[in-house]
Formats: sequence, structure tokens, C-alpha cells
Amino acid sequence: MIDLRSDTVTQPCEAMRQAMAEARVGDDQFGEDPSVNQLQERVAALLGKEAAMWLPTGTMANQVGLRTLTRPGDNVIVAAGAHMVWSETGAGAANAGVQFTELGGSRGYFDRDEYLAARNPRGHELLPPTTLVCFENTHNRAGGVVVPPQVVEAVCGAASQDGVTTFLDGARLWNAAVALEIDPSRLAAPFDVVWVAFSKGLGAPGGSMIAGPADVVARARRYRRMLGGAMRQVGIFAAAAAHALDHHMDDLQADHQNARTIASILAASDAIEIDPESVQTNIVIFRLAPGAADPQTVVDRAREAGVGVFAFGDGIRAVTHRDVTADECREAASVLVAAAEA
Ligand SMILES: Cc1ncc(COP(=O)(O)O)c(C=O)c1O
Repeated sequence: MIDLRSDTVTQPCEAMRQAMAEARVGDDQFGEDPSVNQLQERVAALLGKEAAMWLPTGTMANQVGLRTLTRPGDNVIVAAGAHMVWSETGAGAANAGVQFTELGGSRGYFDRDEYLAARNPRGHELLPPTTLVCFENTHNRAGGVVVPPQVVEAVCGAASQDGVTTFLDGARLWNAAVALEIDPSRLAAPFDVVWVAFSKGLGAPGGSMIAGPADVVARARRYRRMLGGAMRQVGIFAAAAAHALDHHMDDLQADHQNARTIASILAASDAIEIDPESVQTNIVIFRLAPGAADPQTVVDRAREAGVGVFAFGDGIRAVTHRDVTADECREAASVLVAAAEA
């Protein structure tokens, strides 16, 4: 199967497996895993933050972030469609007791004016206080959209004037940095706390890292433990992540090119609605023209023809990654066109 369901389906390559086999490890709950400690320092420096901490998943990074940075009853502002609202089984409400305000519609981000109009003050008798503002970069449900840096800077500037903490879900921050050809630390700079993933386009089998001020990361350790995410000889995973940072970053550009190729092939079909210009990174979301089959039918037909994609809301999502070639992406796009037109 040409598997475009997600960039999380990648297999660790031989060299990565070798790095994992040779990793020096220790008990990370005691802070004694040398591979994890080294990676934490490296990622903190990469993101321009004081400290960083290993987490097993991105979902836990969001949840540890919410627990660490908010109190029950707080209001959290996010870009509409955020993973932490839509794809974490209500964990923000269950674990942190927060409620969310989603802004910005389908474009994947919101601006300073929208923030200013939506935020609630602290100490109001009725209103839940806004204590956290989050972005997701790139934004998954909006189709891998790169959040414009000047928009982020304006919102984060306004939030910090309000004394509101800023938090970035950077599951695909590497993609955003590669697309903009700027250093990840520049995209992380406006935020108090940021997390990144190694298990998406970078192709490691797991792991995320949350980064920010040392005292915040120290508090986050407690919630990682509380949520069951403190691990032992996890340096085996950290070695995979380090290998990915060393060797896989430059390949993200090819993923973005492959996504644009898929979008341009899809756009030529009358049965498919997509603006190829909207594809900025490795996620392609397209809709079916009125009268064409419904998304799930097209997904099922594509699967039978050997292509994996996801029905995503009223559209279909295809994600390119390091385990699919340019030729396979072209072939997959042709299969999707046939499935939509059948
Ligand atoms: C934007 C975003 N945030 C968070 C996550 C959660 O990451 P994980 O699957 O490692 O829990 C994902 C997963 O794809 C994601 O796309």
C-alpha cells in the first residue's frame, strides 16, 4: 500500500535502528539516561529555550502543557480545529478542567484583533479567565498551514501584555521551519512554552519534547509523572530522535514538494475541489465536488486500489512522508482521481 494516511506511519530506517541498538541508556525517572539528557539539552538549544523534557507522545505534551500552565475553570484560546480540542478524547477538560475558545475558522490561526475580542480578564465574577493562548504550527486540520510568524508575534505580544501564557503545539514545527526556510528557534521565540515531535515527518518511532523556562519544565515533570509518562531506559527512543535530527530534517522539503505534486494532479479533476496553492507543507486536504461520491466511499475505493488516505471532516487527507517516493505520490494521486471520478 502507498500509505498516505499520516506521516506517523514511517518505519525506522536501518541506520536509525543501529543508532537505537547502540544507545547509552539509564533510568530517565532518576534523570540518568545519558541519551535523553543529551537530547533534552540539544532540543532546548535548538528551540532557544532554557530547558526541555522528554515525553512519550504529542498528546501527552499538550496535556502536560495544559496541566502545567492552567488551573481548572480557566479558558484556553486555540486556533479552531486544534488537535488538543478535537483529537484528544476530551482530555483537556478531563485532565486540566479547562474550556476552550476556538478562533480563526478554517484558516488554522487567528490574529491579534480576534484574540483581543475573545480573551476574558482574570478576576471577573462570571467569566472564565483566559490564562493560555495556543497555536498549532503547522495546523493539521487546516491542511498543514504554516502560521505566519508576524501574526504569531502580534498575538503573543498582546497575550504577554495581558499576563497570559503562550503555548505552541509544534508537532510539525520542523515542517513550518523548513517551509519558511528559517530557524525553528525563530518560530519558537514568541512562545513561553513549545513542544516538538520526532515521530511525524522526522520518522522516529516515538517521542516529543516540551521546552521552556527551567522552572516551568520542572513543574511539568510532576504532571508527566501524574499522567504516567515518566519512562525508564527511554534513551533507545532518544537515540532515534537524535538520528532523525541529524539526518532527516532536510528530507522534509521533498515531502512538501510531493504534497504539491499530489495537489496539482488532484486539481485537474472535475470531481475534486482543491486549490494547489493552499498546500504549504506535507498535508493535502481535498473535498469532493457536489454530486461526486462521499469521502468514505472514495477512501474505501482508494484503499482497494492500494492507496491509504483518511476521511477528515467533509474532506479527505493525504500526508506525504519519507517512506513514499515522488513516483508513488504521483501514482497515489492518479488512484485518488480515479476513485473520485468512478
Ligand atoms: C498537531 C498535532 N498535535 C498533537 C498530535 C499528537 O501527537 P501523538 O500522536 O504523538 O500523541 C498530533 C498527532 O498527529 C498532531 O497532528
